[in-house]
Order: sequence, then C-alpha cells, then structure tokens
Amino acid sequence: MTEAITFDPQEKLFVLRMQRSFYAMRILSDGQLVHVKFAAADPTVQPLRLSRLDEYPEADFSSWENQTRLWEFPTFGDISYHDVALKAAFPAGGIPLCAQDGAIDPIRDLRLRYRGHEIRTDAAPGLSPAHGRPARKQATLRQTLIIDMQDLGFDFCVRLFYRLTPECDIIERWVQLENRTATPVAIESLAFATIHLPLGEYDLTHTAGSWAREFIPVTQSLHQGSTVLKQQGLNTGHSINPAFFVQPRGLATPAGGPAYFGALAYSGNWSLRFEALPTDPIRIHGGYETDDFALHLAPGQTHTTPAFVFGVADDGFGGASHRLHRFIHDYVLPVPAHTSSRPVLYNSWEAVYFDMTVESQVRLASIAAAIGVELFCVDDGWFKGRRSDHAGLGDWVVDKTIFPEGLNPLIEAVKKLGMRFGLWVEPEMVNPNSDLYRAHPDWVLHFPTRPRTELRHQLILDFGRPEVVRHVHAMLDALLQEYDITFFKWDMNRHATEPGSVAGREIWFRHVAGVYSIMDQLRKKHPRLEIQSCSGGGGRVDLGILGRVEQVWTSDNTDALDRVYIQDGFSLFYPPGVMECWVTHEHNHQTGRVLQLEVRFDTAMRGVLGIGTNLDRLSVEELDTYRRNIAFYRKIRPIIEQGRLHRLSTARDHGASAWQMVLPDGSQSIYSLVVVHSLLGHQVPCHPLRGLVPNATYSISDASERELLRLSGTQLMTLGLPGDHRHIYVKAGIRSRTVLLSRVE
Ligand code: GLA
Repeated sequence: MTEAITFDPQEKLFVLRMQRSFYAMRILSDGQLVHVKFAAADPTVQPLRLSRLDEYPEADFSSWENQTRLWEFPTFGDISYHDVALKAAFPAGGIPLCAQDGAIDPIRDLRLRYRGHEIRTDAAPGLSPAHGRPARKQATLRQTLIIDMQDLGFDFCVRLFYRLTPECDIIERWVQLENRTATPVAIESLAFATIHLPLGEYDLTHTAGSWAREFIPVTQSLHQGSTVLKQQGLNTGHSINPAFFVQPRGLATPAGGPAYFGALAYSGNWSLRFEALPTDPIRIHGGYETDDFALHLAPGQTHTTPAFVFGVADDGFGGASHRLHRFIHDYVLPVPAHTSSRPVLYNSWEAVYFDMTVESQVRLASIAAAIGVELFCVDDGWFKGRRSDHAGLGDWVVDKTIFPEGLNPLIEAVKKLGMRFGLWVEPEMVNPNSDLYRAHPDWVLHFPTRPRTELRHQLILDFGRPEVVRHVHAMLDALLQEYDITFFKWDMNRHATEPGSVAGREIWFRHVAGVYSIMDQLRKKHPRLEIQSCSGGGGRVDLGILGRVEQVWTSDNTDALDRVYIQDGFSLFYPPGVMECWVTHEHNHQTGRVLQLEVRFDTAMRGVLGIGTNLDRLSVEELDTYRRNIAFYRKIRPIIEQGRLHRLSTARDHGASAWQMVLPDGSQSIYSLVVVHSLLGHQVPCHPLRGLVPNATYSISDASERELLRLSGTQLMTLGLPGDHRHIYVKAGIRSRTVLLSRVE
C-alpha cells in the first residue's frame, strides 16, 4: 500500500495519491507553493515522474506570456492580474510609512510563502456537522495534509487543508485564516480552494433551472474568460446548484474518459468561477460569493471555510457520479437514526393543502398505513393562525382550532398504525401577521427606513442576531420535547432581498451557520430526529446540508415526466438514496398532465418513495395497486440505496431515461425505464446492462411479483433486456417499466 500523502524534501514536491488519480504541488525556491498536476492515473503502476523543469519551470517574468504562475492558492498581491482565491486588506495605520505613502490605506497585498506542513487525521472543515451522529465511515481516519503559509511581511497565516478519501478519488480542500497582527484585517474575497486542470479544452456540465424545474443538466464550452456559477442567497438555490463536471472536450462519455468533478459543502452565498486563461490551464475557484460580502478578522481571530470537494474519474461522467454518490453515502450523510433504509413517506400537502382537520389527517393516516407507508408527515397548516400562507410563520405552536387537544391524538393514532410521525416547519421565516413579528419587528432582515419586501407574504429572520437563533432553536426544541416527532420537513420559501442585518455583510454566511447550528443542536439533543431539507422543492441541496439531513425534497413539481429530467440531473451529483419523490394525483396539480399510475410509481420508485395523493378519493382497486407497488419498492429499496447507478440513457439526450442500479456484488439489480417522448412506432433501443456476473442466471420480475423470464448475466450485459418484455411502444399506452433482476444460479 503506497502512502497517500508524500513529500520529497529534495524536489520539494507533495504528491497526494488516490486510488486512480493523483494531485501534486511544489514549493519553489522563494517559498511560493505552485500547482504541478492533477490527473486520473494509477500512481502505483505509473511511478510519478514530475521533473521540476518538465512540469514547472521557475517563471521567467521577462515577457508577457510568462507573467503568471500556477499558485496553489492565488492571492491578491503576487502578480495577481487574474481571479484570486483570497483578497485581504491590511490597515496601513500603525505601520511606519514614508510621507508620500501615507495616503495609501489599506494595503491590499498578500504574498504567501511556505512555512511548514504536517499530516493529521483529525482535521475537519468549517461548518462541519456538530450533531454527534457520525457518517457511516467516519471511523476510518482520513489523512489530511496541512500546509502552513504566511505573508512575507504581515503576521497573517493561511493554512491550506487537503483531506483525502482515496477510494472515492476525492480531495476536500478548505482554508483557515489566522490574523496574528495587532490590527483587524478585512477579507474582501475568499475561496475555499482553487484547483487547476491540465492544459486543454474543456466543457462544463452542471444543472440549472428554476422553481419546479430544478436540476436540468446543462453543458457549455469553457472559452477564454470566466464562467461563473453563483448564488447570492441564503439557500443553495433552485436556478443553479454548486456541483459540476468539467470534461476535456470530446474525450469523456457516460462510461469512459476523464471527468473532473466538484461540489461545495455549503448552502448559501456560494460561487464557482471557471477561469480559462490564455496561457494557463483552467482554474476553478470555489468558495464564498463576494458581490455583497465581508469578513473581518480581529487580532487573534481565525476563520475556517467549508470544503470544496473535488476529484477526477477515469471512467467518464458515470464514474464521477459514482464517486460522489459513494462519498456522500459513506462520508457525508449521518447514519440514520431508525432503520437503515429511508421509510416510505406520506405527505398530505397536495391532498388537502391548508384544509387540515384532525379527522382528515387520521383518516389519511389509516389508509396510508394500510398500503404500506412507514412515516406520516403533516405538512404546512398545523400551527397557530396558519389557514393560508398569509399568516402564522414564526409561531411554532399547535393551532388549537385545528388540533384542540394538541398533536398527541394524531401522533398516537399514527404510532398505533405502526408509522412514525413527521412535521413541516419553516423556521427561518416570519409572517408579519404573527405573534412573533408583532413582538419583535426588528428581528427581520431589513434596512432602516426602507420597505420590507414580502415574498410569499413572509420576511426572513435575522440570524445575525444570536437571540433570534436561540429563540428559533427553543421553539423547535419545545415541539420535540412535547411531541414524539422523529422527522422534520425543514422548508425555506423565499429569496433573500434587502439583507440588512446587525451582522452587516457577514449575514450571508452567518445565516447558513445559524441554520446548521440549530439543526445540529436539535439532532444532538433529540437523537431520534431525522430531517428532510426542502426549500420550495430542491432549493437547498448541497454537501453541507447533506451532512445534517437524511433526504431532500427534489422539486415541488411532481409530474412524473417532468420529474424524470429533474432526476437525471439530480443524480449526476447526488445519490438516488436521498432523492425524495412522490406519487401524486392522476391529474397533476403543477402541469395539469394526466398520467397513469404505473408511470407515476416507476418514476417515484427511483429514490425515496413518498405518496402525496388524496388517498380518501381512491377506489379499492387503486389502493390495491398502491399497496402492491409499495411492497415492491420496499423489496428493491436496498438496491436503490446501496447500488451503483448507471444512467443508460437520459431524457434530454434520448427521449427516454433508463437507469440501472446494481449491488456491488452483482447479485441484484433494478432496471427502470421511463419514455418521456416518442414518435409513434418508435422503440427505445435495448440497453446492455452493467455490473452483473457474466455466467450467473438472473430471474427478472416486476411489481406483480411474477417471474417474467430468466437470462444470463452475459446476455443482459451484451443484448440488454429483450424489447418485447418492456412493452414500451407508446402506441400501447405504456411509458415505463421497473424490473428487478435477482441472481438465482
Ligand atoms: C413549499 C414546499 C411544499 C410545501 C409548501 C407548504 O412550497 O416545497 O412541499 O411544503 O411549501 O407551504
């Protein structure tokens, strides 16, 4: 076993070795730290030969084309005429200056030089979960390289962290700033890391969209200049998500070629800048969005950023997705508090909206339990004054006009039916029509004398005030103490505008830190609590929030065919095992489209299954179909949660989304096909399956539990499933299929 992190003191070369990739950097004679190479390769087979002259000549600054270096962490100072990772301003006051210099204040010049390094196994990025529930593989101690850099004049220190997860080919990078000077330092921009890709031409793939249309994949070429993905907000954002692939143009496919990938572990004002320079490779700066940003470091103060998670796969986008999925499953998500699988959930939002009564909830709960639901979640409308979205947010006490005896009668009924109980909350918000706002009108983000914009009739609480964070925590804690609630759907339903806060411009990251800290404290005190992250659908999905929730609401759009595009995009970066999907009404409430129950189930079964239909209105036959499908889902659920996903075709590129999920030992697999559009008579091609055992025999069955046929692993991996068993002719009116493949011999 080769060392994961090595340092060659002669060459002054650091090499970080992952399973099938490596990352190298070097200290130059003047102490600058420069990037050398980051690439997919098996470092044990190909010993690295990174000669200083071949890979990185000491710069000759005598001509235009050489006037740059690949700084590992570029700062505003050292020949910084491109984007930088860090810009700091040091007050000149106090420093003896000659008379002419007196007017130049502050000094915006930071030049980092190497001071030393160490390797540790207990380092963690800023805003790491503090709820005490470990990730599945937290016990495996991962090596972190820490490189100490210091300004050549100011006593200002920047520590660069590189934590390795070799089996996922993933590096997490973050930085810690320490102001050891006697005066405050203003940080004007700050990335968690800058990464450099080898010279070449690249395309960028990420997801974009809007409310109800999140996670739609987009690919664009990176041309000279900067391409910026960003969110100036207090949630991760619907329109753009902080996760990406960058692939050398023409080389990467779903299953082959190098694909660089990355994601930010942070849920607020984030930015990813892809900078294509004329003479240099691509640089990617990932960190805080700084359009409206401030960070003041008082003397002696430190700031540790969250992590920029990245890596490179040698087996295409599929390999990149797989590495991220595995990393999230093993190292990010908290170990579930209850069963190891995500429960099948019922949520009554689309069934009753604000028209909630105890009787209707109890009735829905009893039908839900009968069809196999495991978790019953009461959505918006249960708390004081909340008869519409005009009032009530902020008052997290039960509305006695709806629940005269509190929630306990409903919770007891739900528990008696064998289900867990969950509740919707939107803790960061307040309606002006609420007791909280009447008591504390100053507790919201606003600028004095200026209008307070209400979006969805609500304002945002100022988490820059510690007393507000304490109050919100106390309200939720009281609910958890009084009631047996084991699941919160934590929502967040508006854009941030007029961000006036007592914390000034630091509010952007203080808000995110406040949300994380409330979640962490609640989870710590109530270890049976699980959380779903929701922000008007999929507006808060990222590696930061995934460290403190079990699942995410992917989109408010529950139309099965629209959803397939959303799922294709979501699954590029995030695992199906956290992707909550509901079966809702035949006549979809968002799009008005009418779709058969089969396609609604086949789509929803690809992730964490939920039911959102008004069960009260269904016939006995329909309920029986629900029951059968839920039973089938519970059988295939471990494959969805633990299997490797292969996207065999996508809705965007092929008009049909075909997913295969397969357990690591090839013993079981699911094939899921949804045709989103097709010409009459058009047949979707057979997709050779992956990851099966060639000479094993597989029994193929569907929700009816009947065996449809048996085929060998080789047949399935060369010819795919025979078309006549998929019935996918649109003329026949069937759009989708989910089958289970189980090894029998
Ligand atoms: C948001 C959520 C929905 C629902 C409503 C309730 O829009 O995304 O699922 O909970 O709020 O107001």
